[in-house]
Amino acid sequence: MCGIVGYTGFRDAYEIVINGLKRLEYRGYDSAGIVLENNKNEVELKKAKGKVSDLEAIAGNLKNTSHVGMGHTRWATHGVPSDINSHPHVSNNGKIVLVHNGIIENYETIKIMLSQKGFVFHSQTDTEVLANFIQYFMDESGKDFAEAVRAALSEVYGAYAIAALHVDYPGQFVVGRLSSPLAIGLGDKEYFIASDASPFVEFTKEAIYLEDGHMALISLDRGVDIRLIKDNSKVDAEIQQLQISLEQIEKGGYDHFMLKEIFEQPKSIHDTMRGRLLLDEGIIKMAGIWDHLERIQAAKRIIIIACGTSWHAGLIGEYLIEEFARIPVEVEYASEFRYRNPIITPKDVVIAISQSGETADTMAAIKLAKEKGAFVYGICNVIGSSIARITHAGSYTHAGPEIGVASTKAFTAQLTILAMIALKLGKHNGNLNNTEFMQYLYELDAIPKKIEEVLASSHDTAKQIAEEFVNATNFLYLGRGYNFPAALEGALKLKEISYIHAEGYPAAEMKHGPIALIDENMPMVIIAPKQGYYDKIVSNVQEIKARKGRIIALVNKGDEQVASMADYVIEFPETSECFSPMMASVPLQLLAYYIAVFRGVNVDQPRNLAKSVTVE
Ligand code: F6R
Repeated sequence: MCGIVGYTGFRDAYEIVINGLKRLEYRGYDSAGIVLENNKNEVELKKAKGKVSDLEAIAGNLKNTSHVGMGHTRWATHGVPSDINSHPHVSNNGKIVLVHNGIIENYETIKIMLSQKGFVFHSQTDTEVLANFIQYFMDESGKDFAEAVRAALSEVYGAYAIAALHVDYPGQFVVGRLSSPLAIGLGDKEYFIASDASPFVEFTKEAIYLEDGHMALISLDRGVDIRLIKDNSKVDAEIQQLQISLEQIEKGGYDHFMLKEIFEQPKSIHDTMRGRLLLDEGIIKMAGIWDHLERIQAAKRIIIIACGTSWHAGLIGEYLIEEFARIPVEVEYASEFRYRNPIITPKDVVIAISQSGETADTMAAIKLAKEKGAFVYGICNVIGSSIARITHAGSYTHAGPEIGVASTKAFTAQLTILAMIALKLGKHNGNLNNTEFMQYLYELDAIPKKIEEVLASSHDTAKQIAEEFVNATNFLYLGRGYNFPAALEGALKLKEISYIHAEGYPAAEMKHGPIALIDENMPMVIIAPKQGYYDKIVSNVQEIKARKGRIIALVNKGDEQVASMADYVIEFPETSECFSPMMASVPLQLLAYYIAVFRGVNVDQPRNLAKSVTVE
């Protein structure tokens, strides 16, 4: 869960690496480092605890000194964030320099073996062990650099994307991957390496995504030579055309990526529906589903696996699929599913949801489901990501790059895909008649417009409410039906970026425990749209009022009953209950965002988190 960038070509390697690291900071930001080759067969290396901007402060003198270099931005796994644990790491002989994203699970055993042979370790990292393991293969068996990397990678297990340089092999990178992403950008007389394509998208639109178990030797004179790690056989990799643009990954005048991404939701939802929801023809056209419709339709049950926000989308997916398609659905945390010996049969269909497409727990759960014969359908946002490639079929969300660590637009895009899948299945198996189906299609099609309205009407209110609650220490979020998962998601957003403790509950569960927490200091966020269980929610609000809780109510425009009891009111337009979480989530994102901003948190890079959790 770190970011890697590398460059060889004719440009200033310092600029490419530093700018690339800034774009990858969402992957980790507790320390950063850079290494550049100079023309005396030596390397210049700078690394430090802190952000890429801290690295710039100590490495600025390396500007315009080299055309070959690489860098790393870290999210600590082995060893605390510190200068010494930062990457790149160097082998004992000072010749091999390595950056690494992932975890080498057997590094302790290798470290003991190397220590017995006289190797010395300065850091607590698994990466330094790997750098020395490569040196060991060069020293002991006279292997050349690439062969030694291959030998070392053949013996390690865990997850890695690595890039390595050797001072005696100037201008060459050796890279390899297992379960952590690595893209190679192919330019004209230049090559790029990065954890995703964002560091090089303005220079080239052609890229190779390295596959698991593959390594590559990259140099200007030999090009990109891809091999299987296990037997060194040559691989012809597919060249992909990148679809992201530079402006998609820049802040575009907003203070934070998170705010930009919240405001992008009308467009990202529209993009997710584009070419799929065809009103004129009265159909939903999704190739991934269409090609496997019978298999999905015949499923005895659907199991949705995901983590975090994607898991919340999965819960709403359960409500949607059970309501429209009448197929039983179970929603599982991928991290639990993979370790609890679940019953999965070839008659099951598994839907894996992941924004990044790289989440280690979700990947492992998919592999388990595939081994047991289930058909696995992926819903990912990042094109070409690992999950998109290991699933049998799937749909991209087309939300565009999500950089802010807190997921916003990817969540509502996931809900859009899940709604389309549920409606398509419901129509196909006759649970929805044409009139009902068309009515939902029109409503779904209208969501982007309605979200524009919510953004316009709720932005200032959410900001004012945030100011009031900036010093709160706890929050409760309540919702019923489809809006129970929306309450969970609202609470998660607040926790992760403001560091305020928050919990989401089904409103009716309140009296089974959480009601004890309510007093005049407890902020209670209640999602109470007209459609659904309005009367029941009214009773819940009365119960809170009687205990003097401070009520922030999310209600439909024109609501009077709940609004009259609430201390603060945020309005959103009416829609069917099944689509209301898409509307309610937007003001909840804004509320969390502004509370965090007022508390002075770096919203895009909250502490201890990373955008893509590629370790378990
Ligand atoms: C919360 C958040 C995380 C992710 C989770 C899964 O805002 O971003 O909870 O949702 O780490 O990540 P993906 O969807 O990339 O698998």
